[in-house]
Parts: sequence; C-alpha cells; structure tokens
Amino acid sequence: MSWLFGYRNAQPPQDFTQFVPPLAGDSGGGGSGSGGGGGGGGSPPRIGGSQMEAYRFDSSALERAAAAAKELERSSTITAGSVLGSGAKALLEDWDKILAAAGGLSLVAFGIYTAKGSTSMATRYIESRLGKPSLVRETSRFTFLDTIQHPIQAVKKLKSKQTDALSGVILAPKLEERLRDIAIATKNTKYNRGMYRNILMHGPPGTGKTMFAKKLAEHSGMDYAIVTGGDLAPLGRDGVTAIHKVFDWALTSRKGLLLFIDEADAFLRKRSSERISEDLRAMLNAFLYRTGEQSNKFMLVLASNTPEQFDWAVNDRLDEMVEFRLPGREERERLVRLYFDKFVLQPAIEGNKRLKIAQFDYSSLCSKMADLTEGMSGRELAKLGVTWQAAAYASEDGVLTEKMVMDRCLEAIKQHKQKVQWQSEQEKQESKSIYAMEDDAIVRSKTLAIEPCPGNTVAPA
Ligand SMILES: Nc1ncnc2c1ncn2[C@@H]1O[C@H](COP(=O)(O)OP(=O)(O)OP(=O)(O)O)[C@@H](O)[C@H]1O
Ligand SMILES: [Mg+2]
Repeated sequence: MSWLFGYRNAQPPQDFTQFVPPLAGDSGGGGSGSGGGGGGGGSPPRIGGSQMEAYRFDSSALERAAAAAKELERSSTITAGSVLGSGAKALLEDWDKILAAAGGLSLVAFGIYTAKGSTSMATRYIESRLGKPSLVRETSRFTFLDTIQHPIQAVKKLKSKQTDALSGVILAPKLEERLRDIAIATKNTKYNRGMYRNILMHGPPGTGKTMFAKKLAEHSGMDYAIVTGGDLAPLGRDGVTAIHKVFDWALTSRKGLLLFIDEADAFLRKRSSERISEDLRAMLNAFLYRTGEQSNKFMLVLASNTPEQFDWAVNDRLDEMVEFRLPGREERERLVRLYFDKFVLQPAIEGNKRLKIAQFDYSSLCSKMADLTEGMSGRELAKLGVTWQAAAYASEDGVLTEKMVMDRCLEAIKQHKQKVQWQSEQEKQESKSIYAMEDDAIVRSKTLAIEPCPGNTVAPA
C-alpha cells in the first residue's frame, strides 16, 4: 500500500502508529514507495497529530500502474500475433494445406447456395401443390395441411354426395331450365375430360349468382375457388404474380376447378379506359394470357353487376352469358316461404331453440308478403327470415305472432325504398337489364310485325 502514498516531509514522524492502525498484509509496506521518500525502512512510519495533513495521495503512482498494465497487454498481443502469424506462415508455405482450405471453403459455399436454392424450390412446389393462394377467398379444396388440422371435416367431405345444382336456388322457370342445362353439360364435361366453357353471370346484387356458382361446382364434382376482383387492385405490382399463382394452383387440381371470379369488373375493365391504372392493365393482360385457350383443368365463371365495363378481349373468352334478374311475384312467394320455413318453422319444430309460433295462417301471410315485396332481392328476403327469427328471440316469451311477422316485413320494405332512393340515376341505368331492353325490342318488333304491311299479305295455307 505504501507505494501509492508519499510524505511531504523527508523525515517520517516517529508516532505514525499512534493515529493510523497497522494494515493487514502491509507489514513490510513502505519499502517500495519512492514518492517523498516514504518508508525505505523495515518499520512503518509514524505521524504526529499535527502532521496528518502531510499525508497525501500520490497521483504519479496511478499513472505508473496504468503504464504497467498497458505494457502487459501489448506484450500479450504480440505473443498471440506471433503464434497466429507462424500458423499462417506454415499454411501459406504448405500448398496441400492451401488447396484443402480452398476446397473446403468452396464446398461450404456450394452447400449454402444449393440449400438455399432447393429450399425455395421446395417451398414453391409445396405452395403450388398444397397451399391456397392468398387471393383465393374461399375454396372447397382440402389441402394436406387442412386434412391434418380438420380431419373430421375432411372425412365428411369425402362422404358428401353431389347435390342438385339448383337445390335451394329459386329462379324464374326459364332461367332455371337454362342453368340446369349448364349444370348437366359441366358434369358431363368433367367425366369426359372435355373442355370447360366459360360463363358470365350478371345481374343485380343478391340474386343468387354466387350461390349458384358454388352449387354448380358441387354438383359437377369439381372443386371451387372464389376470387374477388376487388382484392386485386390494392395488390399493385404484386397483382400479376398473384394471378399467376391462382392459375398455377388451379392447374394442380385433380378434380378440375371452377374458378369463380366475383365482382370481376373490378379488374377486367376496358384497357382503353383512362381510369385504369398501369398495374390493373398488367393484371388484365396476365389474366388474358392465362385464359387464351379453352382448358380442361379449370372452368371460369365470372360474376358482375356491370358487365358492360368488361374489356372486349374478356367478352371474347365467354361462352355463355346468364342474367340473374330480381325475383318476380311467383319467385318472391317461393323465397318468402323458403326463408320462413328455414328460419322460423324448422327451429320451432326442432324445439331445441327458444322459438314458438302463435296460431295464424302463415301460408296466406306469405302470399300477402310476396305481393308487398316487389323489387326486393333474394338476399333481402333471406335477411327478412333472419329478422323474424331475431324478433322471436327478442320477445319475452319467444313466441312469434302474425303482427310481429308483418311489422318486420313492412319495416324491410320501407328500408328497401330508402336504398332505392339513395341509388343514383347512373347506377339505376347501369343495373338496367340488357335482357329487359331486348324484351322491349322484341315487343316493339312484334308490334311492327302485327301491323299490316301494305301489298305484302300472305294467303293462308
Ligand atoms: N335466387 C335465390 N334463391 C334463393 N336464395 C337466394 C337467391 N338469391 C339470393 N339468395 C339469398 O341471398 C344470399 C346471397 O346471394 P348471392 O351471394 O348468391 O348473391 P349474388 O347474386 O352473388 O350477389 P352479389 O352480386 O352482391 O355478389 C344467398 O346466400 C341466399 O340466401
Ligand atoms: Mg356474389
């Protein structure tokens, strides 16, 4: 300890131990202290009471200690460097070792590169084979991962039988007939591995387009996948890749895939339109590229409320156009009955829900409601069914009365009228049926044909 301290006075005081207690392990201390000549002898120095201020911290001793530590560090670095240097020198002098080291490094680099490449290839393969592209909103296809996650559903699906393509879909008889033909043709195309036909379904919202497309796929034994056109625009530059992914995935379906593109006008608009962005244009081109040829792997079903916005090249790819109209008087009655049965009668019969029906003639009530609900879509009528059910649940005793049913119906009609008012003139024009115009034309031509044409009378056979 004493080498850190020194005394101002050359002569150490004799009575040091009187004030400072001796330190353990410092018995031979003062010998090495050089500052101020402290110590130098065998016995510790002594300080008198008035001489304590002479006892001072020697700062030069700390500097000396730091210098010594630095010296030690430098010498150890030199030692390590010389050891490594001699190793490197030995390596550089031995060619065999150099070649072995270079070979080893190349092998490691090759290994990393191959592992990276094969991993991304495997990922892409698994993605296209097993994974559902992010653009696909809903699909009946069960992937390997789904089977592991939901084994019961997978077994149920295997057991499920093909349903009637039009079960639960209520349409005008003519349209029903046409759709039945499409369903039968699609089913036979699948069995004969023929070329699928592309279909456009258009018409006002809530008229059963999506509903029928799903049933068509189930009936034909195909898988279905729903993509929404509106999901593409926000993808920007990635949209093209996303479209190719969907078609790559569609090609891997063993059963054949019904690719249903809902709200298709959102990205299949006319290229000449100024409103279309570069990205949307690129997506449209990618779509046209993938659908240029008829396919025996996937069937394209487009749905749109405004098909007049389609690019001409899209129209050229369509084999069949089907218009879904708002339900007429007969269809409305069938729809009201269907949804009264589904949401009120069935739960009341099952008895497992808190729902009872008061005594009233609901058959005549359904006819009455069909008269009142003109202009309402299938979706609006389906929602009416849910409203009746909710009214029963909200009541104190869970009993649905005739008045409750009628009140809810009148409220729905009021809301429908409000929605129609909100619809702009342009929207009303756009949603006007092209077949309605056609019908007008037919009526007009018939009227003209009936009018007697002078000098052109045909004698009865
Ligand atoms: N023709 C119909 N027969 C029976 N139910 C119908 C019919 N149309 C609509 N619905 C009911 O309305 C719901 C919505 O119908 P869907 O999704 O098929 O309409 P959409 O024509 O695809 O409408 P959007 O143009 O808005 O997509 C169906 O789930 C069904 O409950
Ligand atoms: Mg739809």
